Amino acid sequence: MNYQSIILPHIWNLKPYSSARDEFKGKEGVFLDANENPLGSPLPENWNRYPDPMQWEIKEELSAIKQIPVNQIFIGNGSDEAIDLIIRMTCAGPANSIILCPPTYGMYEVSASINHVSIIAVPLTQEYQLNVDQILSSVKEETRIIFICSPNNPTGNKINRNDIYQIIENFQQGFVIIDEAYIDFSDEPSFITELNNFHNVIVMQTLSKAYGLASLRLGMAYAHPQIIQILNKIKPPYNIGGATQALVLEALKNRDFLFNSIQQINHAKNTLISELEAMPQVIRIFPSQANFILVKMEKAQELFDYLISQQVITRNRSNVALCENSIRITVGLPEENQVLVQKIQEFYS
Ligand SMILES: Cc1ncc(COP(=O)(O)O)c(C=O)c1O
Repeated sequence: MNYQSIILPHIWNLKPYSSARDEFKGKEGVFLDANENPLGSPLPENWNRYPDPMQWEIKEELSAIKQIPVNQIFIGNGSDEAIDLIIRMTCAGPANSIILCPPTYGMYEVSASINHVSIIAVPLTQEYQLNVDQILSSVKEETRIIFICSPNNPTGNKINRNDIYQIIENFQQGFVIIDEAYIDFSDEPSFITELNNFHNVIVMQTLSKAYGLASLRLGMAYAHPQIIQILNKIKPPYNIGGATQALVLEALKNRDFLFNSIQQINHAKNTLISELEAMPQVIRIFPSQANFILVKMEKAQELFDYLISQQVITRNRSNVALCENSIRITVGLPEENQVLVQKIQEFYS
C-alpha cells in the first residue's frame, strides 16, 4: 500500500523532536541531560525522571497478550489521543473528510471538527448496522478515514463482520479505523488478526473499559509498522506518564481481574436485561455486546430526570437521531443495578 499518498506531505517529511530519553536509553548513569530535578519528588516515590517515551515494557506485555509484534502497537493517552493523531496525519483541513456512522462515539466528530476537517455522516440503519452502499458512494476523492465502532457506542451491538470487510476491501485511499473499545465484552474476535491482510486498517482498543483503568488514560492503536512509526513521530514525546506506565505494567500481569470482570459484568447485564424486559413501559432493549445497554422506553426524558433526582446517573440519548426515547445504562454492580430497577419501577408506578 502506498502510504505516502494518504499521509499529509508535511507529516511524511517531518523530522520529529528528539527527546533526551530518545538519545540516551540506558538506565544507569549521571543524568544531566533532561533538566530534571536531581533531588527527587515531594512524594513517597520518585517521579522526577522523564518516562520512557516509547513505553517499551508495556508494548512487550501487550505484544504477548495480543499476539502482535511491538512495532505494530501505538500507545496513546487514551484512544482519544489516537483518534486525534490519525486525523491529524491524514487530514489538512475542510478539503479532507472523514466518514462516520451515527449514532456512534462522539469524539470522532469532535476531533474532526477541532482539526477543521469535513464530516460525512452516513447514519446506521434502523437495526444499527452499516449502510454499506451509502458509505461507499459517499466517499469523496479527499476522504481519508472511515470510522467503524464495533461494538458500537451508544447502541451496544456489534457491526456485521461481512459489512466491515466490504468497507475495508473497497476503501483504499485512506484508513478504516475499527474502534474496539468494548471488544472484551463481546463474543466477536478482534480485527487485530486481520492487520496483515489489510494494510488500510487501524484497530483501536482501550484499557478504560474491561481492564478497569480509565483514570490512567491508556489506549492502543494497532496497525502496519509504517503507520505506527508515523504516529510515534507526531505524538507528544512523553505522552504516557511514568506513574501510568508503572501501574499499567502491573495491571496487565493480573489477567484474572480482567476475566472475572468480563464474566461478572456480562452476567449482571443479563440479569438487568431480564428485569427491564419484564416492565411494560420498556419498548425495546437493543442486543448488547458491551458493558452497557441502550433501552427504548416510555417517557425516557422524564425518567432520566427522575433518576438524576434520585442520584442514579444514566445517559439520556433521546436527542440523538435513531435513539429517540432511549437511555444508555452502564452495567453497574448487582446492587447498583437493583437500585436502578427499583427507581424505574417507582417512576412508572
Ligand atoms: C467507542 C469508544 N472509543 C473510545 C473511547 C475512549 O476511550 P479512552 O478512554 O481510551 O480515551 C470511548 C469512551 O467512552 C468509547 O466509547
